[in-house]
Amino acid sequence: MILFDLAKAELIRSNADRRHPFRYLSLATHGDYPELRTVVKRKTTPELDTVIFTDARSPKVEQIRKNNKVSILFYHPKKKLQVRINGEALLIEEGHVDYERYFEQIKNSASIKDYTTRFAPGKPMEEDAKVLFDDHVHFLAIQVIPHTMDILQLGTEKHKRSFYQLEEKVWNETKLTP
Ligand SMILES: Cc1cc2nc3c(=O)[nH]c(=O)nc-3n(C[C@H](O)[C@H](O)[C@H](O)COP(=O)(O)O)c2cc1C
Repeated sequence: MILFDLAKAELIRSNADRRHPFRYLSLATHGDYPELRTVVKRKTTPELDTVIFTDARSPKVEQIRKNNKVSILFYHPKKKLQVRINGEALLIEEGHVDYERYFEQIKNSASIKDYTTRFAPGKPMEEDAKVLFDDHVHFLAIQVIPHTMDILQLGTEKHKRSFYQLEEKVWNETKLTP
């Protein structure tokens, strides 16, 4: 199987399989330093867009507003499969056609609390202070649209690595030295 098909199959499979390692990914944005964090993957679309949910006040959102070029990283330990994606992040805010659909997914779940802290995520807290919650939901979805992919699979006999670039809706492959 070519690496692209393998990575795509795993990404799509992880939509339904809650224990799949691709349910978590690292998202890198541009700050003063490269800024990395673990996030939950909410969905991979058939076009291989990646959807993430976050608090609209979080620094990552501000960083994306300044520079929407992002990288994401998936790793499957059993398959020794690494998928690195570079692309652009689209902020799906209130008013966007997809916003309500994503908001519905968290509206009646316990995770809604993640988007209702009184103070913005990352704000310093007093020692022993409790996290306070308000009614306002600062929810936002991030859609990462891929431009390039670097896929590497380590094997016992040989390693495989390919670079893919999306050109006119076709993913063109260049084999790379692993
Ligand atoms: C297992 C795990 C899952 C996480 N999932 C998310 C997530 O889906 N969305 C999110 O915004 N932050 C998530 N976080 C928290 C982020 O890693 C990060 O701490 C937070 O979003 C603040 O990032 P920022 O200050 O760079 O914006 C998760 C953290 C862990 C450890």
